[in-house]
Amino acid sequence: MKLFEPAVLGALPLSNRIVMAPLTRTRAGELGIPNDLLVEHYRQRAGLGLIVTEGTWPVQEGRSYPGQPGIETDEQIAGWRRVADAVHAAGGRIVMQLMHGGRVSHPDIAQTPRIVAPSAIAAPGQTHLADGSKADMPVPHELTTAEVHEAVQGFVQAARNAVAAGLDGVEVHGANGYLVHEFLAPGSNTRTDQYGGSPENRARFGIEVTTAVAEAIGADRTGIRLSPEHGVQGVIEDDAEDVRATYTALAEGLAPIGLAFVDILHADPTGDLVQHIRRTIGAPFIANSGFSALTTREEALALVEDGHADAVGVGRAAIANPDLAHRWEHDTELNEPRPELFYGQSAEGYTDYPTLAESRATVA
Ligand SMILES: Cc1cc2nc3c(=O)[nH]c(=O)nc-3n(C[C@H](O)[C@H](O)[C@H](O)COP(=O)(O)O)c2cc1C
Repeated sequence: MKLFEPAVLGALPLSNRIVMAPLTRTRAGELGIPNDLLVEHYRQRAGLGLIVTEGTWPVQEGRSYPGQPGIETDEQIAGWRRVADAVHAAGGRIVMQLMHGGRVSHPDIAQTPRIVAPSAIAAPGQTHLADGSKADMPVPHELTTAEVHEAVQGFVQAARNAVAAGLDGVEVHGANGYLVHEFLAPGSNTRTDQYGGSPENRARFGIEVTTAVAEAIGADRTGIRLSPEHGVQGVIEDDAEDVRATYTALAEGLAPIGLAFVDILHADPTGDLVQHIRRTIGAPFIANSGFSALTTREEALALVEDGHADAVGVGRAAIANPDLAHRWEHDTELNEPRPELFYGQSAEGYTDYPTLAESRATVA
């Protein structure tokens, strides 16, 4: 079965085609430094063909959640080196998701006086602060054109830092309502400079970030995550014509880079929109079918077997099953995820999901 066979994404050789989707777990402490818990969590999951790390902030003002790790300071780089070394020693591959949260943040979380976005439009709803209280998402500072260029450089430095830490590459987070996605959608981007207005202009930031990152660390170590029509964090893409035009412009801008992969989160990865984006970019494709139901073994098998994807991203099943590739290959029982512990601070619900061998040893 093809899902369990090796694949090559750019410079990344994968032992199988099951990819751990990026999963924010908020256990990196106030300073965002990967600690023993993160090292163990990722080491346990090295049997997956590729690990994409949790969303990691390139610059302080891009931090969206308390406990989220960064890749800006020397201490963070040293922490990630321990993660990368542990994954490699266990035979795995790991790339870092570079996530600038844009307007999805709060000064208390980012520990900066301002948060930033393409336009001064607040994300809807509230966010949780480190002390457990809730606060409205603030109206962000609209990046000036010069500051947009600086934001691109922030991604570039972060990518260099990730590679310096020994990670195998990076994934630019262009999905789920964070900074790159905020630029793409007309409701969160009302700019009048070259980064707003037409689909081509709204796609420009994502193209520039990804191009600059690829130039810095190699296109064959660079990927991007997209989530067209996901409709989260107030980034709404409900005009089908505009969505198609915007993602076509983006895909055409990304195509010449020669990316290692494109990772798309969408409820229908086999549908016309996603396959159009895939074809236009022309890079190896990781499909992730979305939040409504957990990705299943059967779905993953079919996506790869039928040629709809080169690899499959898996979120919650990879949280609950450190040995997911082994379990799926042998079609065994699975642990159930415990969503109440997705965002926590301890080992509980993080590094204490048993492998199949451990479960069976306990039962016996
Ligand atoms: C706890 C949790 C944290 C997540 N964090 C991120 C993240 O940091 N970056 C991202 O792009 N997606 C994130 N996602 C989305 C997942 O990568 C994935 O797309 C989603 O879980 C759907 O796949 P699944 O059905 O296999 O779980 C997160 C999802 C969950 C459940």
